[in-house]
Amino acid sequence: MSSAISRQDILGMVRGRRPGYSLEAPFYTSRDVFELDLEAVFGRHWIFVGSEPEVPEPGDYVTVDLGRWSVIVLRDDDENVRAFHNVCRHRGSRLLAAQSGSTGNLVCPYHSWTYDTGGRLVHAESVGPGFEAGCFSLKPVHLKSISGLLFICLADEPPEDIDEVAAVVEPYLDPHGLRECKVARQIDIVEDGNWKLVMENNRECYHCGGHPELGFSLFPTIGYAEEDIGPSRRAAYDRFKRIDAEMTAIWERGGLPWRQVLRLAGRPTGFLVERTPLDRDGESITADTRVASQRLLGDFTSPRLGRQGLHLQPNSWHHFLSDHVVTFAVLPLEPGRTLLRTTWLVHKDAVEGVDYDPEKLVSVWRTTNAQDAAFVAGAHKGVSNPAYEPGPFSPTESWVEHFCAWYLERLDAHLGGQP
Ligand code: FES
Ligand SMILES: [Fe+2]
Repeated sequence: MSSAISRQDILGMVRGRRPGYSLEAPFYTSRDVFELDLEAVFGRHWIFVGSEPEVPEPGDYVTVDLGRWSVIVLRDDDENVRAFHNVCRHRGSRLLAAQSGSTGNLVCPYHSWTYDTGGRLVHAESVGPGFEAGCFSLKPVHLKSISGLLFICLADEPPEDIDEVAAVVEPYLDPHGLRECKVARQIDIVEDGNWKLVMENNRECYHCGGHPELGFSLFPTIGYAEEDIGPSRRAAYDRFKRIDAEMTAIWERGGLPWRQVLRLAGRPTGFLVERTPLDRDGESITADTRVASQRLLGDFTSPRLGRQGLHLQPNSWHHFLSDHVVTFAVLPLEPGRTLLRTTWLVHKDAVEGVDYDPEKLVSVWRTTNAQDAAFVAGAHKGVSNPAYEPGPFSPTESWVEHFCAWYLERLDAHLGGQP
């Protein structure tokens, strides 16, 4: 474990970082940096916490813990999704302990103060004369739904660029009809690495040789420029070029946006959206590249639509397919421990065992996540070793550089006191 680091020291490391190189060890291992990450990144940006189908009915909720914060995301009686701090307005007790569930009113387990699903205090016994219940509503947390993906922001004044992100990405996502989906499976794993190592690992395919199951459908050239294709990827790249031209014509005919929009750094809410082809039968990210659910999403009539990808800083990535959606939320637990929550969603009318086989649905990513968890654990061990020094990114790791640049910009803005 590293010794204490002042904020001034951290700012010095932020400003002294060598671009194009991995970060200095304390960014991954120091508890002081971790606490700063929770404050400056997770406390001030739009954080992906789940999707609307996770709270399909009024009273359905999920709770999300971010450092010392705990947030309730629930659907109110008017069917709007809202977020509240999971803190009773009496003496502060945590209101909801479960990770998910369904409730009528929210009743505090301590002295039974009772709130409706809009957060209003509707019952409190023996409170004395002059008590004004209207002054003790649950504290709201900013919430934004983008095509059914749910983001919260703990800051008083959230980054306003989320509206621009929504305007750009919703035309890509809406055809998949996420709001008309249901959760088929959700799997949490805890990775033995810093949350940034989990994100960095997601942002490159330099290591995709370690993912034979994923590589059957997903081209291992994601993020590669043509001139960076090495011999091990040449055949796949040639196939990619041919299928990409074919799929682009299909997307154009179907009115599906496909052009890459890459704004991963230089703004609070960095994002990347693109539609890409899939290999072989090209239908879905499954072991045989065919759909896992026969009930296609939205108004799709053809299963062969490739993959609609979305990456968001700081903590998520998503694949929208013709038959299912898979979302990934990265939630920091400790400097060296990170929760990865993977959720597979299918059309709400799809019947398990009839229209879809859950094992086929989850198998590729369950396997791939385990492989990535091993890479992340190895990376965390390595950066914790006194012999570690930052190493150069490959040109194919440009999205990792974007992530690191974004992260350092955000710390700089926070520590430097800029807006
Ligand atoms: S702390 Fe919630 S009712 Fe007392
Ligand atoms: Fe991976």
